[in-house]
Amino acid sequence: MVGVLARAITHALVGLEPRRVEVEADVHENGLPTFAIVGLPDRACAEARTRVRSGILSAELDFPRGRVTVNLAPAGLRKEGSGYDLPIALAILAASRQIPQAELNRHAAVGELALDGRLRRVGGVLAVAEGARRLGIECLLCPPESAPEAAFAGVRPIPVAHLAEAVAYLRGELEPEPVSAPAEPEAVSLPDLSEVRGQERARRALEIAAAGRQNLLLAGPPGTGKTMLARRLPGILPPLDDEAALEVTRIHSVAGLLPPEQPLLHTPPFRAPHHSASTAAIVGGGPGIRPGEASLAHQGVLLLDELAEFQRPALEALRQPLEDGVVCIARAAGRAVFPARFQLVATANL
Ligand SMILES: Nc1ncnc2c1ncn2[C@@H]1O[C@H](COP(=O)(O)OP(=O)(O)OP(=O)(O)O)[C@@H](O)[C@H]1O
Ligand SMILES: [Mg+2]
Repeated sequence: MVGVLARAITHALVGLEPRRVEVEADVHENGLPTFAIVGLPDRACAEARTRVRSGILSAELDFPRGRVTVNLAPAGLRKEGSGYDLPIALAILAASRQIPQAELNRHAAVGELALDGRLRRVGGVLAVAEGARRLGIECLLCPPESAPEAAFAGVRPIPVAHLAEAVAYLRGELEPEPVSAPAEPEAVSLPDLSEVRGQERARRALEIAAAGRQNLLLAGPPGTGKTMLARRLPGILPPLDDEAALEVTRIHSVAGLLPPEQPLLHTPPFRAPHHSASTAAIVGGGPGIRPGEASLAHQGVLLLDELAEFQRPALEALRQPLEDGVVCIARAAGRAVFPARFQLVATANL
């Protein structure tokens, strides 16, 4: 018997850049029962096998008997994380003719499956949605918590809480819930400069640094309020404009740090890594090429408290972003450019 091939569209992220990934599923009902995922999946992505099988059965759908092969194309691009669960499940369901392929073609999909078929939020949905929009795909199937984030990319998010809901929607049996964009960004309470007593010169220095977005070193005897002053800089910075907010949100979303109640970050970020932080943690990198503290502080403040205690290589690695405003990371896994235009505030004891 000839196998049935179906496909779903999603995106892999290289740094912040979305790359189109076609999830192809090939089902041979008569073959020996196997389920393989190929196309350079990482551990979390390969484990989709267990979640997808369980999710499909929990949604009271049929997991095809026989040989199931899923290919994540292009095969040379690394696929990381659990966001491929939903497109893999949908491609298998289309290949076993449980949902119409024509309808699936109009959608991109992203989301992690729970064993009971519910959808879980993953990082990077904003960038994935931007990739879909660039391809001319208008709708993105995603977990409900990610829907506001996807809406900022200009696609129509289809929030689905459960795999069964996604299937019912694609069969035309269910209207998706409308996504209400959160009207007002929630006010975040930041430490207030008015709490500082005296210290006129230091406060003036903070205000000048804030006005000119200049870097600042607070040096003085122990216990004189250096850390306290440095932490109060974000409170006197203006909120981010829409373009900057989108840029900051994209970075935090890829790092999986976007708070669910705040789909668009309008306050300048504040990052204060501990002095034991590694070079990769500060400028970015690691096996998955993640943004580092310097990029998470983009458009905001990077506080290096007790500057002298930081490891020399980590400090040296900050020279490039301080000059260029970007971090270029090249690893065996690929190359990525992250924006990193931050205001550096350092403290030191005298
Ligand atoms: N001018 C000030 N107004 C109000 N509180 C202050 C002031 N200076 C210091 N403090 C208080 O003193 C404590 C110590 O301040 P802080 O930790 O900022 O000092 P530091 O200069 O960073 O010290 P260290 O060098 O030990 O890190 C804080 O809890 C802070 O609330
Ligand atoms: Mg201190």
